[in-house]
Amino acid sequence: MGGMRNRVEILHGVNLDALGRRDPSHYGRMTLPELEVKVRRFAVDLGLEPSFAQTNHEGEFCEFLQRAGETSHGLVLNPGAWTHYSYAIRDALEVAALPAIEVHISAVDDREEWRRFSVIEELCAGRVQGRGVDGYRDALELLKAELER
Ligand code: DQA
Repeated sequence: MGGMRNRVEILHGVNLDALGRRDPSHYGRMTLPELEVKVRRFAVDLGLEPSFAQTNHEGEFCEFLQRAGETSHGLVLNPGAWTHYSYAIRDALEVAALPAIEVHISAVDDREEWRRFSVIEELCAGRVQGRGVDGYRDALELLKAELER
């Protein structure tokens, strides 16, 4: 018996700490602490054990990813704008070698062209976008399915 693989880390990148002050037509009005309360509830309801982190510093985000395997079985990632260009974060995710789901609050596929491209997409088992905060529940469900595979 290998024990339950239920520890998941929800990582937010650059400018996600400014939720609540960003364009509400894309991001709603919830602050990051409020979002984390809601996402914690989604996770617990699914039988997952969540932890959370956010940083505006790319190198720190890479270090979170490098160490993620020490504490977590899977990842939900919203790297913000880094999603679209940070090969450093892409490579750190490869080091993490954990099942991961990419999530975006806004509809990145329907906004500027440059938001459609994701450097982490090929390393992620799923991608959720344009579903607001509820997208995190979808992401956690996808991650749970991956952890049970
Ligand atoms: C975002 C979308 C990104 O394009 C943007 O740079 C963000 C947030 C989202 O959650 O919709 O900062 O990842």
